[in-house]
Amino acid sequence: LENQLAIAIDGPAAAGKSTVAKKVAHQLGYVYIDTGAMYRALTWCALQKELDLEDEAGVHHLLMECDILLKMEQDGQRVYVNEEDVTQAIRTQEVTNQVSLVAKHRKVREEMVQRQQKLAKKRGVVMDGRDIGTHVIPDAEVKIFMSASVEERAERRHKENLKKGFPSNLEELMDEIRRRDEIDSKREVAPLLKADDAVEIDTTSLSIDEVVERIIAVVKKNG
Ligand code: CDP
Ligand code: CDP
Repeated sequence: LENQLAIAIDGPAAAGKSTVAKKVAHQLGYVYIDTGAMYRALTWCALQKELDLEDEAGVHHLLMECDILLKMEQDGQRVYVNEEDVTQAIRTQEVTNQVSLVAKHRKVREEMVQRQQKLAKKRGVVMDGRDIGTHVIPDAEVKIFMSASVEERAERRHKENLKKGFPSNLEELMDEIRRRDEIDSKREVAPLLKADDAVEIDTTSLSIDEVVERIIAVVKKNG
């Protein structure tokens, strides 16, 4: 590809966005940016400080105290808050259960979107999240909306947990995913939504590599 593009990948929880986005970025020699990790890091910070997550001004103010850094290292992406490595800590069920409450605040989103737009300016990026194609990079050259049935998505997380030796309950995962999708889709500010010009990929019965191939095909057509 001659031109460096911006590739926006959106979709509900556990659709396979980050796994696929990393592979696409690797194939193209692009930078991968995980916007969900930024909201998770802020949530982790708020829980540490025992903040009321519904308090928009309080959570927004916290953005100034919590220096969030995404860093690509040899063993993959690492996330730091005030120089503390929180890569694992932001993936706990506690953070996962609360993150949508933090991410619905307008002021928080405005600040996050500004930071993300700065990161995407240079192009040569694959960015995944909920509002990338609609708000963060509305002029992205490639937009993908990944979906999958809720049963399949819960099953994927379940398998992932078992593989890591974490306790896991399929019914609970299904509830958590449904609840988070509902908050993310119904919030007032930049809800989870397929952009009009996004290519939708239902990954329910596709392998990771099949999804990667489809996205690369879209990239080749648009690049
Ligand atoms: O990987 P998983 O689907 O579990 O979630 P994530 O991508 O890490 O995102 C965690 C949460 O952050 C989402 O459920 C949204 O509430 C929020 N988020 C958002 O609002 N906007 C984004 N661009 C990315 C994440
Ligand atoms: O980022 P997002 O929450 O959308 O999903 P993920 O964390 O990348 O993927 C959730 C799980 O589904 C991972 O364990 C993947 O290996 C698995 N998976 C997938 O991503 N895509 C498929 N087509 C099949 C499985």
